[in-house]
Amino acid sequence: MRVDVLNDFEHEDGERLLEIRDDERAQSLDLGAHDVSGVSPLDIRAFTPTSHSTATRREMPEITTPRELFTHELGDILYVERKLASETLPKLIAEVRDEEFKAGLEKHLRETKQHVANVEQVFSLLGEEAKAEKCLGFEGLKDEHDKMLEETSTALIDMVDLGAAARTENYEIAAYEGLRRMAKALGEEKAVELLDDNLKQEKEALREVEKIATRVSNDSAKEPASA
Ligand SMILES: [Fe+2]
Ligand SMILES: [Fe+2]
Repeated sequence: MRVDVLNDFEHEDGERLLEIRDDERAQSLDLGAHDVSGVSPLDIRAFTPTSHSTATRREMPEITTPRELFTHELGDILYVERKLASETLPKLIAEVRDEEFKAGLEKHLRETKQHVANVEQVFSLLGEEAKAEKCLGFEGLKDEHDKMLEETSTALIDMVDLGAAARTENYEIAAYEGLRRMAKALGEEKAVELLDDNLKQEKEALREVEKIATRVSNDSAKEPASA
């Protein structure tokens, strides 16, 4: 049977990987220590012994340098900040009842719009186009929150939203701490300053949320349950 070779990889450890196509299927055959010298790649299937025929697919990684990892993670937080500014925070502001919480969310929405601008500026400092990467962690938090709202009485909505806000701020804090560490290591001092501005406001927002959550939790524990 004729076999077309799509890729021929030589790994650092000397292991060879051929990616082949036979008829309609694409698969990779790890040839390990087998001597393939003198064997035409087109005959590789006939050569490959059945004892070594476990098919594995190895793709070349697209992120290979600390700088690429940094810009990828920057795209991740850009996705989060844009979503928060355009959808999530306006939705929370519309649904919460506690006035102090509502005012805090409105303030953080204004800050979040600046966070978007700061992250875009970091991209521009690096000479890169600001490209958002879908953040699966944030999407998970959002899905969990949506499910929680369906399952919970509307009387408890502020507590549910305070929990979601605290989780999101913690996520952002971890993201910015990682980003500022990478920017520092790469010698991008101006980027460190911009990331620190965002990080400081996330930490302050978390402190506010925790303070309000303590009051709301204590108050609601004293009240009889209602629908
Ligand atoms: Fe933010
Ligand atoms: Fe935030």
